Amino acid sequence: MTTVIAFDVYGTLIDTTGVATYLKELVGDRAEELTRRWRDKQLEYSFRRGLMQNFEDFSVCTRQALDFCCAELGIDLTEENRKLLLESYRTLPAFPDACAALPLLRQSGCHLYAFSNGRADDVLNLLQHAGIDQFFLDIVTTGEIKSFKPNPGVYAHFLRRAKASGHESWLISGNPFDVIGAISAGMRSAWVRRSPDKPFDPWEFQPTATIASLKDLPSVIAPT
Ligand code: 2OP
Repeated sequence: MTTVIAFDVYGTLIDTTGVATYLKELVGDRAEELTRRWRDKQLEYSFRRGLMQNFEDFSVCTRQALDFCCAELGIDLTEENRKLLLESYRTLPAFPDACAALPLLRQSGCHLYAFSNGRADDVLNLLQHAGIDQFFLDIVTTGEIKSFKPNPGVYAHFLRRAKASGHESWLISGNPFDVIGAISAGMRSAWVRRSPDKPFDPWEFQPTATIASLKDLPSVIAPT
């Protein structure tokens, strides 16, 4: 049996807070607040569109969330700066531990996939820019079934695409809602807890494993 691993992209392999570097030049010390609000709103829009069955690309959620947060926080950004920021979302950096863990997992025979709300060309661009695209067998996106995480259908779609069953497959994510979504849909899941201050949702689901860094993943996922 081959172990199949689905990696969440934004917030797991790719550091969305990398956008704060650009934002600092534009909005100074409000960069951190805007980065956090922007990411939360982007996800909220994806959840709402998923529930409403009113799908638009994740990039639309990202753009509309930026417009909302600028309006909410009273931040006046020119159209050109908004474009630059959205462009920077296509070249966000990878977390350093991703670059360390992926070759080991690949060598051990696991089948690795990128599994994301993002559009396939955006995800490919990110992985190539970060120099980690070669470790993945394929990119699977939730947009292929016009929905978003954590709709159970998107995890079932992943398993179909990877030709795998839930018990041989892992979802690796830094996003607790994604971990809970995968476990609820019958997969195993490791939560990458990037900050010791970050709590997990107090629901009836627990991650199969909790790791502080992707470097700990090879010891958690023993290939079978
Ligand atoms: C992703 O699907 C949820 O942003 C996260 O990549």
